[in-house]
This record gives sequence, C-alpha cells and structure tokens, in this order.
Amino acid sequence: MEINLDQLQKSAEEELNGAKDAADLERFRVAYLGRKEGKLNAILKSLKDLPESERKVVGPRANALRQYFEQKIEERVRELEPAGLSEGEKRRIDVTAPAKRLPRGHLHPITQLMQKATAIFSSMGFDVASGPEVETEYYNFDALNVPKDHPARDMQDTFWLDVSGLLMRTQTSPVQIRYMEKHKPSFRMIAPGKVFRNEATDATHEAQFYQLEGLMIGKDVSLANLKAILEVFYRNLLDDQKLKIRFRPSYFPFVEPGVETDLTCFKCRGKGCAVCKRTGWIEVMGAGMVHPKVLENAGIDAREWSGFAFGGGLDRIAMIKYEIDDIRLLYNGDLRFLKQF
Ligand code: DAH
Repeated sequence: MEINLDQLQKSAEEELNGAKDAADLERFRVAYLGRKEGKLNAILKSLKDLPESERKVVGPRANALRQYFEQKIEERVRELEPAGLSEGEKRRIDVTAPAKRLPRGHLHPITQLMQKATAIFSSMGFDVASGPEVETEYYNFDALNVPKDHPARDMQDTFWLDVSGLLMRTQTSPVQIRYMEKHKPSFRMIAPGKVFRNEATDATHEAQFYQLEGLMIGKDVSLANLKAILEVFYRNLLDDQKLKIRFRPSYFPFVEPGVETDLTCFKCRGKGCAVCKRTGWIEVMGAGMVHPKVLENAGIDAREWSGFAFGGGLDRIAMIKYEIDDIRLLYNGDLRFLKQF
C-alpha cells in the first residue's frame, strides 16, 4: 500500500476549508477520521502491517495529522457557530418578509387631549392642580356659593355617598377652593379631572366625564385677559389660528359676571351648519369673574384681589376635535374606536 500523507493532507485541508456548516464538518470528520471509512484512520490501522523502518516514519506523522485535524475541526466548528444557521436553514428564511407587528397600545384620546391642554396652559405659566373625586358638600357646593336649594344639589344630579356630606364631585370647581386655601395670590392654575353626574346617559350625556377648570387671581385681572388666554388655548388645542371666541352673559353662583364661552364652529367656520345649529358658534365652557364671596370663603381678601375662573367638559372638546357623535364611545373601551386616535 502506497502511503502518500502529503497528498492526503492537501486534499483534507482543502475540504476542511471549504466546509460551510456543521454538517460539512461532520462529513469531513467521517471521511478522514471515521472509525469505519476514515482515510486517515485506515492508515493508522494499517501501521501494524508496515515494515518497522517505514512504520517509524509514517506512524508519528499520521498520528500528528490526526491530532492536527481534530483540532482544526474544532476551530472550524467554533468559526461557523456564530453564523448560526446552515445554508439550508438560511434558504428557508425569507429575510425580506415584513416583520410581525406587535400590537401596541396608546394613550386614550381624552388623555391625549388633557396632556395637550396642560402643555398649552403650562406654557402660559399656569400651575397644574388636582383634587379628590370624592368631595365634601362644602367644597363642591357651599364654598362655591351654590345655594342650599340649588337644583344641582338635587338627588337627580349628584351621586351622594352613604357617608353624610360626601359626594362624587359634580364639577372640578372645588379644586379652585382647595388651591386658594393653600396659595397666596397672585397665581394662575388649571385643574383637569373626572367629574360625576347622576344622569341618564345618551349620545351627549355620560354619568362620568372630564372637565378642565382654570383660575387666575391677581391685581388687575380682567375678562379681557380671560378672553385672550382662552383664545390662545383653543387656537392651539384645535390647531386653528383663525378660531375666535365670544362671551355670552350667563349665570353661575361662583362668578359675577358669569359668561358662556362659544367657539366659531369648526365645521362651517361661522357660516352656520347642522353641527352649530345654524348659529356659527359652539358652546364650550362656563366662565366669569370669581365671586367675592368665593374668594372670602377661601381666605382671600376680595377688596385686594380679583380674577377669573373657567370650566368646561373636555369630552365635548374631544367630540368637536375628532368629530365624534356619541360621548359613550369614549368610555366603552371598544378598540375598533380607540385605534383611530
Ligand atoms: N363648574 C361649572 C359646570 O360644571 C362650569 C364652570 C362655570 C366653571 C363657570 C367655572 C366657571 O369655573 O367660572 O357647569
């Protein structure tokens, strides 16, 4: 048997370097080092039949080659490992296929609106305050100058709790009192939050909804200031720099004078349409100059300080902004609806 180790080493080395994956390396191992058919193994097995002179030359070299290739195989295995996938596997994976989309949540439209409103008022120097949703009759009504026999206190409007004097706040206005008790004028603040009304629900009424309250107390604060500030607010909130607001005389026990605030209709821009009932205006919030009695109730000297307050539903604004025709859609958690925002 002619033994040419040089040639065997050369061809083995070529095959080893050409191996592309773990399967190629395993084939190589079987072909050269395998017990049954391995070419190098066959040489090692035949050493015992060689004349001693030849065995002494071939033996050490063949053994060294075996060690060399075992080591080489390990090296190549490690080299190929990071690639991970065999050629066959790679062919089965379509790297151009679009990735699976993981469903992602997002903030509720009311929350988005509340955050935007807060950002706009913050940029005008307004502090952001909050108060409890379970309120006392005092903060929700008495301190706000709402008469004892006012219909708003009625069983039909207010969720009274079993504990006497406690209720679910019907408005965010009590936060005005809580804020004034703790802060010295001058100041300006807003208070967004949830309110509750004991009412039958329909397309425009919910038993719980969101309001945005505002209060600014100082030395020469006027209704003109209020109008300017609300105009900046609504123009930025609704992304309409041409939007106008107007005041109409109205009555709320905690302000004097009191006004209703209207916006030019977003749909017809004031021409008159079905949305604004042909008036060109949409009513959005109540406001006015804080009643001296309210200031005094909260410990602020009404001869020295005055200012304005405003408050209204955020849901209504969301409905205007997104053209939603039923307030209940905002609260029933239907993802088909919510995913649009
Ligand atoms: N709290 C009133 C409501 O729920 C809205 C309101 C009117 C708030 C006039 C005010 C205000 O601060 O000055 O209907």
